Amino acid sequence: VNAIAERQLVAALRHSKKFLKSNRVTRKLLDDVVNRDEFSSLSSHEEMIRDSARVDTYYEGIKRHIRPGDVVVDLGTGTGILAFFAREHGARKVYAIDHSDILHVAETLAAHNGITDVEFVQLHSKQFTAPEQLDVILHEQMGDDLFNEHMIDSILDLKRRLLKPAGKILPARFQLFFEPISLQPEQRLPYLWEQQSHGIDFSVLKGMPGIENFQGANYGHRFVRPMMLDHLLCEPEPMLTFDLNTLGDINELPHVLTAERVVARAGSLDGICVYFRTLFDDDLSFSTSPLDPMTSWSNRVFRTETREYQVGDRISYRVEMPDLAFGDTWAVTMG
Ligand SMILES: C[S@@+](CC[C@H](N)C(=O)[O-])C[C@H]1O[C@@H](n2cnc3c(N)ncnc32)[C@H](O)[C@@H]1O
Repeated sequence: VNAIAERQLVAALRHSKKFLKSNRVTRKLLDDVVNRDEFSSLSSHEEMIRDSARVDTYYEGIKRHIRPGDVVVDLGTGTGILAFFAREHGARKVYAIDHSDILHVAETLAAHNGITDVEFVQLHSKQFTAPEQLDVILHEQMGDDLFNEHMIDSILDLKRRLLKPAGKILPARFQLFFEPISLQPEQRLPYLWEQQSHGIDFSVLKGMPGIENFQGANYGHRFVRPMMLDHLLCEPEPMLTFDLNTLGDINELPHVLTAERVVARAGSLDGICVYFRTLFDDDLSFSTSPLDPMTSWSNRVFRTETREYQVGDRISYRVEMPDLAFGDTWAVTMG
């Protein structure tokens, strides 16, 4: 009886997960609930506040681009850190909005640090209205896959409804990279059919009928941290760039990207790594490249069969992003 109940439970869980992820509307609903819950806990904010590449760049960007008297909205204020920086650098008023309970922590921090003229509003940004037009939309809405906190949707909604025609989005410029990487040998995770262990050969699994039924959800990728990297095989090149000041709608961005790259550093290809760069202006930016100082973001790596490349070899691949906001729907096909 237990075995039957367990099988039914597993099937029901799989079914409901599959259902929730099967279309844009339920995926977005699920994401909002998960996001609100995740950011209500201190641990995610501890990582983000300790991330000096992120915080120091924001501090400098706010210092450079917020002008005395500006009215600012801090979209997704979290602990309030960016709202506080904006007030320090002359903003007349900051609307600090967040849909999660962390807002109560932000209010306590403002009172303790003597910060005034920050109005805390616990709402999803789509429900936010202001009694005046805004000079600046300040935000840090980037997920590991850049778009997966629904950054574009939420920011463009506020831009359309509340930003002055000459108002600014800070930061507004982004670059998205998909780079061939070589991992540290002990960090490699070859497919099972590529492995051997004490004379046991797994290669038969590659052609085993029905093997795909044993590949759990998201089998095609894994998340890595920068210290797991050995090197990038090619000179990095963004595959997608955009500016939120000029972008009208998320659908203006392409859903298919293709790359034809030349190997600059020989080595084994272990996957295609996703990272992004956020630019405040031409000389102020930070990136989540595994080569740059470590940040609080992780890198999604699309797994590939391991293959050795020499300098001058070509690597071609195609990236498909049917739903930009859900990295789990993305796929990379090697050419
Ligand atoms: C990545 S954290 C950044 C927090 C803070 N701005 C910082 O830089 O440390 C994003 C925050 O935005 C909130 N958030 C995400 N989407 C939102 C939305 N559409 N409306 C309101 N809050 C949102 C989350 O609850 C989370 O606290």
